[in-house]
Amino acid sequence: MLASDKLIEAFNQQIGNELGASLQYIAIASYFDSETLPQLARFFYRQSAEEREHAMRFVKFVNNVGGKVKIPALPAPESEFASAEEAVGRAVSGEEDVTRQIYDLVEVAKADKNYAGVRFLDWFVAEQLEEVTTMRDLLAVIRRAGPDRLLYVEEYLVRQGGRGLESPAAPAETT
Ligand SMILES: [Fe+2]
Ligand SMILES: [Fe+2]
Repeated sequence: MLASDKLIEAFNQQIGNELGASLQYIAIASYFDSETLPQLARFFYRQSAEEREHAMRFVKFVNNVGGKVKIPALPAPESEFASAEEAVGRAVSGEEDVTRQIYDLVEVAKADKNYAGVRFLDWFVAEQLEEVTTMRDLLAVIRRAGPDRLLYVEEYLVRQGGRGLESPAAPAETT
């Protein structure tokens, strides 16, 4: 096996964390769906799909190094939101949590001298910076619009060309 039991266990936990984030985004998307804010709903449904892809990257890595995939029990996501600001605030704090989790995983992989793991995690370090920024930007736009003008936020998302707020400033993907 190309990774220690400790690293495999930590990666399995992260599979759960990413799937948990995926469920949380379905709950947030559904809140916006129920408020008839289709662009915000679409944005979060798409985020949910992305989190599943993140989980699958960890699944693939664990299998590639000969570890055993063991998906942990997932906590129920929060489903009650009093406002758009609260729902997106939950997304911001979720991304901040995941960023800390990824940094902790880097520490485990480095302590193990598992350089394949460190390189694998590099992608997530960059991805988390983008995700935290995206969610903070969306929260700022929502606060600026105010609770009675969420249609501005919808228009804003449309103007982003279907990519939502995912930063056009992500040059690595586009060049
Ligand atoms: Fe993720
Ligand atoms: Fe994320």
